[in-house]
This record gives sequence, structure tokens and C-alpha cells, in this order.
Amino acid sequence: MTDQSQQPADQTFPPPEEFKRNANVTADEYDKAAADPLAFWAEKSRELLDWETDFSETLDWSDPPFAKWFVGGRLNVAYNCLDRHVEAGNGDRVAIHFEGEPGDSRTYTYAELTAEVCKAANMLTSLGVKSGDRVAIYMPMVPEATIAMLACARLGAAHSVVFGGFSSDALHSRIMDAEAEVVITADGGHRRGKPSSLKPAVDEALAKGDTPVKHVVVVERAGNDIEMTDGRDQYWRELMDQQSDAHTPEFFDSEHPLYILYTSGTTGKPKGILHTSGGYLTQVLYSMYASFDIKPEQDVFWCTADVGWVTGHSYVAYGPLAAGATQVIYEGTPDSPHRGRWWEIVEKYKVSIFYAAPTAIRACMKWGREHAQKFDLSSLRLLGSVGEPINPEAWLWYHEVIGGGRCPIVDTWWQTETGAHMIVPLPGAVDLKPGSAQRPLPGISAQVVDDAGHPCETDAAGFLTITEPWPAMLRGIYKDPERFKETYWSQVEGQYFAGDGARFDADGDIWFLGRIDDVMNVSGHRLSTAEIESALVSHPDVAESAVVGAADETSGQAVIAFVVLRGKATEDDDTAAALQNHVRREIGPIAKPKQVFIVEELPKTRSGKIMRRLLKDVAENRGIGNTTTLADASVMDVIASRVAEG
Ligand code: WTA
Repeated sequence: MTDQSQQPADQTFPPPEEFKRNANVTADEYDKAAADPLAFWAEKSRELLDWETDFSETLDWSDPPFAKWFVGGRLNVAYNCLDRHVEAGNGDRVAIHFEGEPGDSRTYTYAELTAEVCKAANMLTSLGVKSGDRVAIYMPMVPEATIAMLACARLGAAHSVVFGGFSSDALHSRIMDAEAEVVITADGGHRRGKPSSLKPAVDEALAKGDTPVKHVVVVERAGNDIEMTDGRDQYWRELMDQQSDAHTPEFFDSEHPLYILYTSGTTGKPKGILHTSGGYLTQVLYSMYASFDIKPEQDVFWCTADVGWVTGHSYVAYGPLAAGATQVIYEGTPDSPHRGRWWEIVEKYKVSIFYAAPTAIRACMKWGREHAQKFDLSSLRLLGSVGEPINPEAWLWYHEVIGGGRCPIVDTWWQTETGAHMIVPLPGAVDLKPGSAQRPLPGISAQVVDDAGHPCETDAAGFLTITEPWPAMLRGIYKDPERFKETYWSQVEGQYFAGDGARFDADGDIWFLGRIDDVMNVSGHRLSTAEIESALVSHPDVAESAVVGAADETSGQAVIAFVVLRGKATEDDDTAAALQNHVRREIGPIAKPKQVFIVEELPKTRSGKIMRRLLKDVAENRGIGNTTTLADASVMDVIASRVAEG
């Protein structure tokens, strides 16, 4: 467990009085929600969403852990994100300011975005997509990614977005598991000043044969030369040009699947996290109001996450649009073409709410405040953080340099599985404590428990659980109900086990202490040690491998691999680099180990279990810990000297 939160927590930051006075949600909401959480969620859902048919029961928990929220209700998620704002007279409000990395830009009003999504829905219908189907989306950060997601939602087809940085293998396994018949992709995107490629990975994935994919739709973005397969591949623009921009939405059951999003678990096989419609949208939208204090008529919201991750689902595609707010979508990296790029965009669009990951804040901190200070950041009024605990040093820098000392920072703890914010200090209600995510969202109840499932005492480290079902909770792991029960509901009777270490402090604020399982957090992205280990052993020269996440100043954790070569294979200067590239090809650049150490043997217990903890100690320069349970204690000395050599 990495604990970046041991600094004294004596300094708190009350939000400015004026902020509190105007906040959407004030402290009394906590009491109101706690008094009757189901009544609270029912009221929020009716207030925030347009239901075509009202629900008759708030929660059906008769078959736990399989929840049904807002039973009997019918709605269309895309209608709630688009048409209703146009019908309310806000069709001319900007929905998306798109900023391409090379500096091109495009704006969509709500009326224009609705028309595009209607066309895209008609296009998907013309390709045979209907309610209940799955569509894979493998795209750069361009508006068409969001348009494609909303078009699926409009038709009741579940999307499965695969992060554009994942490899063809990762794409292939996700297409197979989700049984997607259509893939929406692009000829590439712009990243770090270069066109990146995506379409060749789709071609490779489909060349593996046996996939259910019938159609590939290609957005032209980067101008790369790509191959188009006759009868299978078509250009987005050509198809869209043939479509009408009128489309009547159908209304679906509250529990109709909205999307599948694959995330790393403790085994090598990613889990297809399933989210449904009414409960998900209720909590996502509520968090837009409560955590971000969004005022749709005046705010400009910018969440920097990629749509390939859950943050991009909830706070790029669904949250800001369901709120009817104006948002920025940026294609590239914060340092292209210069290290002040993000802040230049904040100035250009007068961004008022900015949401990013601590790893990026730490990178900006390292580059120096002068890059931010070149730009006018006075439009900002609220900052958010997500993905890992934000260390107090980064929090204070973010607060002062970016937020000018006046913007509350909301540290939002949640997961792909939780769908929306769960633990977050509401900016109008709570004095902020750097490094702590503080309080459960109103309507959510959390606990910190010990090994035996008993509540921990103040300051004692334990495991975070969620004690009651919540509207945006995952409804399962796609096609694997047993794994769903086993992974999340088997550790503590009747409670959701998040896999994160945490503690309560004396004020009742929650501090997160990092993952307690073999899931790493690299630059705010979840990676599993097992997934990278199986990629390594798929290399013909590798006999065995162990991967650990070692503390890293910028990325939070870095992937460090220890590898035993096969008898015949000999190590040379290129071996480590070859294995790094192998992982890059198998999973994607984010999973590429920062270092690969070739070792003779891995430290194992007598029962043959690899002791990753010892490897982590060495990788983090802590020397060798307790080796008494090792079958052969000398193994660690050899490894430690290998690491010391670099
Ligand atoms: C970690 C991202 C501390 C945590 C939304 C969780 C955090 C995992 C925070 C989920 C935070 C996310 N403070 N830890 N504010 N936000 N985490 O599924 O370990 O990509 O379990 O969802 O990220 O990662 P995921």
C-alpha cells in the first residue's frame, strides 16, 4: 500500500464565502439524504432527468448483488443529453468547443450536436445496429467519439469504448468478449505533434479471424494513409452525408444496458463492467451539480480525460451534456506544442471548471509555474482531481498556481465500477483538506473495515466498502455473474469491496491509501500486474515474470518487471528493450515497463507463490524486507544487486 497522505492534516481550506452562498448544494443535503437515501435518490432522479414513464419502485434489491434502480421507469439517455435542452430553448448554447492538437477548432451547439447524433443513429441503423447490440468504439479524442457514444445510447445499443492507446490484441479481446458487430474508429489522431495511427490496429485485430464484426466506420482525422477493406470498411463522412438529421428516440427501460467498459482486475483477463441507464445518469448528473457545482448557463466545463476511460464516459460524454453545459474537448497532450497548452486552452475558452489527474498536475509542477503564469486563468472557479490520491504538495500547487488561491479543489474518489463520484468533498459544504477525498456523496454510505469486516477505529488503515447499493453502481461483469459476486461482494457480507485501502481521521474524513490488490495505478490508469505478466510470458524468450508497481514521482506508480529467461535464451543489451516493446505491442504504450530486470530466479514462498512485496521493496530502494517465508532467501540478494546495477 502506498501512503502519500501522512502529512499533518491540520490545514484546511474553506471555500470562499461567496462560493458557498451560491453553491448548488449545501451542508444540509447530507442530513436530508442520510435520513432516507432511497427517497433522496428518487427525488433527485425525477428532478434531474426527463422520464418518459415514471418509475414505480426506487430500488429492487431482492436479489443482491444484482440491483435494479428506478424500476418500471423508461427514458432515453441521449434525449436527456441533447433534445431536451433544444426543446427548452437552449439549442444555440455551445455544447462542445473542440480544440485539436494542431490548433484547429470546431464548435457544436446543442442543436447541431443533436442533429449529428440523430444522423449517426440513422447511420448505425442503416448498418443494422439495433437495441441490445454492441458497438466497439476505438477513437482519438475528437467530437465524433462522443457523437458515436450518444448515437449508440439513442438506439439502445451498448457501446464498448476501447482506449485508443490499447493494442490490436487488447482491441481484439474486447471485441470478442462484447461480440461487437460494428467498430467505429479513425484514420488516426494527433498526439505529441505527430499523427497517431488507429486503423492498422483495427485491421490487425480483425485479421485474427472469427470476429463478429461486419462493419468498420472510419472517421477521417489525421490524414494517414490507411487500407480500406471492400464490403467491410466505410468512411464516416460518406455514410453521415446520406442520413437525415431527424430521428425519433425510442424509450428504454431504466435498466437497459448503456455501456460495457473493460477494466483491469487482479487476473489477466479484463472485466467488462456493465452500466445501465436510469441510475447511472441520475448519479452522474447529480454529481455534476453537487461535486462540480455546475451552472449550465454560465460555466465552461473541461474534463481532460480520454473517453477511453470511465472518467471520459461520465464527465465528457454523459455528465456535462446531461447538464446542458458547455464543455471543452481537447485532442492532445498538455505539452504539445508547448508546456502551457492546457492553460492556453483555459484562457481561450474561459474554462471555469477544470478536472484533471494528479499525475498531470505533478508533471505541470515539474515543468514549472511559469508555463501556467503566461495565461489568464481568472475564469477558473473550481478544480477537480481524479484517478489516485492527490499528494498535498500537488494539491497546494494546483490550488495556488492554477486556482489562484480562490478555487475549491474537489478530490473525487470513484471507480469504473461505481460509475460516478462516490467520495468527494462538496465545495459548498465542506472545508477542504489537501490529500483527503473526505466525505461520501449525499445518498452514499461508505465504511472502512478490517480483515474480519469490522469497522476500523479512527486512523486505523483498513479497506473501503460501500455499504448500500447506489444508483450508478455496475450491474455486473458482462457475461460473468460469478466473477461479479466473487470480486466485489464476497469479502464482506452484503457490502461492496472496492479494493482500496483507506482510513477515517478524527474529523470523519476519508483518506485513501492506494490499491490493496495487484492492480497498479500508473498515471491515473488502472493496470493489472497479471495482465502485464501474461504479456511478458507470451514472448518466446520468457519463462516467468513478476511485475510490480513501484512508487514514482510523476506517474504515481511505474511498471517494473522482473523476468526469468528460458534456458536457451541468452541475455544481451537489447533484451530488456525488446521485452519493453513486446508489452507495448501486446497491451499498449501505457503498460510498457519503465524497467525490465533479467533475473535468474523469482522470490517464491515454499508453496510457489511469487512474493511481489519483496520485489516492490527492492524496486522502491527500500532494501530487502523480511525474507523468512522464502523458499530460498539468497534469491533476493542476487536480485537486489541486479537492481543496484541498474
Ligand atoms: C483510484 C477512475 C484516491 C482508486 C475514476 C480506485 C483514487 C481506482 C481516486 C479506480 C481519488 C481514483 N483518490 N484514489 N480521488 N480516484 N482512485 O476504475 O484506487 O480507472 O480504485 O476509475 O483509482 O480507477 P478507475
